[in-house]
Amino acid sequence: MTKRVAILISGGGSNMVSLVKDMQSGDHPATPVLVVSNVADAGGLQKAADLGVPTAVVDHKPFGKDREAFEAELTRVLEEAQPDIICCAGFMRILTEGFTSHWGGRMLNIHPSLLPKYKGLHTHQRALEAGDTEHGCSVHEVTAELDGGPILGQAKIAIEAGDTADTLASRLLTWEHKLYPAVLRRYAVGDRTTLFLG
Ligand code: GRF
Repeated sequence: MTKRVAILISGGGSNMVSLVKDMQSGDHPATPVLVVSNVADAGGLQKAADLGVPTAVVDHKPFGKDREAFEAELTRVLEEAQPDIICCAGFMRILTEGFTSHWGGRMLNIHPSLLPKYKGLHTHQRALEAGDTEHGCSVHEVTAELDGGPILGQAKIAIEAGDTADTLASRLLTWEHKLYPAVLRRYAVGDRTTLFLG
């Protein structure tokens, strides 16, 4: 049975585009059913619409500090699409345990570091400042621990002389666009073995 995939974004949605295009390329165990953004003018919303994927906005700002109320509305919108899998793709909201337990076991995220290193923000700068010789991205299952769930895939790149956070981010993004679709194809058929690229 084809798995129904909802994708959460907050910005440009380049990872969302890679996931959708791979699902639309034929012979794929999953199909995109909804793209939801917490940011009303996120560039990814138009990209999703252009690809024929239904979109929705659940703006977090009207909910203020009431994370639970925001997530209740987000869950209501998601449930309407009846997703089997949720992919966080540049989704910049920290999720409460209530949300991650409700959707647990069927929610993925891509994080721009070689987890468990550099959970949280500014991963490229932190790798540079640490003098690391390699960097990468990770796809993991979402649990209550921020960027802490079981790792399903990683892609590695070398940090080159003269790299800045921007050059690193840009080079890594091309690998994110390879890794996430490859992991989703496996996840959608129940394959939880860890995939390594690069
Ligand atoms: C990417 O580096 C992703 O790893 C992080 O947000 C960045 C932008 O992602 N979560 P996208 O272009 O919005 O998919």
